[in-house]
Amino acid sequence: MPLLLGVNVDHVATLRQARYALLPESPNAEPCPVQASLDAIAGGADSITIHVRGDRRHMQEADAYRIKEAIHVPLNLEMGITEEMIALALNLRPEFVCLVPETREEVTTEGGLDVVGRRQEVGDCIRLMQKAGIRVSLFIDPEEAQVRCAAELGAEMIELHTGCFGNATAETVAAEIDRLHRAADVGHHAGLQVNAGHGINYHNGRQLEAVPHLTEYNIGHSIVSRAMRIGMEQAVREMKALMSHYPAISPQ
Ligand code: PXP
Repeated sequence: MPLLLGVNVDHVATLRQARYALLPESPNAEPCPVQASLDAIAGGADSITIHVRGDRRHMQEADAYRIKEAIHVPLNLEMGITEEMIALALNLRPEFVCLVPETREEVTTEGGLDVVGRRQEVGDCIRLMQKAGIRVSLFIDPEEAQVRCAAELGAEMIELHTGCFGNATAETVAAEIDRLHRAADVGHHAGLQVNAGHGINYHNGRQLEAVPHLTEYNIGHSIVSRAMRIGMEQAVREMKALMSHYPAISPQ
């Protein structure tokens, strides 16, 4: 099975909000995250990822519903575990959700979800989602205890946080790849689908070929940035071409 690409289009909405936060329904409100999603799909995106944050800094609920309506590939809703977001997910019915930690001060999701420390809360949310037919991914740091706990709680997938890998220096990158390798091994053998996301770009993506068992990359910032130069469709096409070097894995 080739490596799949989930394209996170949040930052298309970030740009729109910079000008139109107070005029969301203005006919001038651009750029449009629905169009960006369709362009990403035309370029080969296998799924579209959005994160409706508590502070609504980029995606709004209306975007989520419009994107869900417009696309024919799976929608992945990244969400903090709050009553508000659980209600949104149950109403929106994305194909899958990715549970993430969320604090208002952070620039982006800055660490993995502490599944071990929040075991009860995470487990309850997983069950609610699964009862509604929504598959669950947990965004976690590449640590064995977190991976094992994700499996015990019955999540279908984990997304290994590649932020430290993305920020690694020439001296530290091998150790980060090694951490991801070990976590991916544990997750795969525990029956989890193993995805990766955060800080993956056109320069470092191929280094992740050293990490086995990966099913999907979730990439936002780098693709949206590249899209400003060459358009979303071509930016996604380029990323997919890089990803085609990843060793094919057989489905579990
Ligand atoms: N995965 C998760 C859980 C995220 O929170 C983000 C950032 O929104 C991404 C992947 C994408 O990260 P990046 O924008 O660095 O590609």
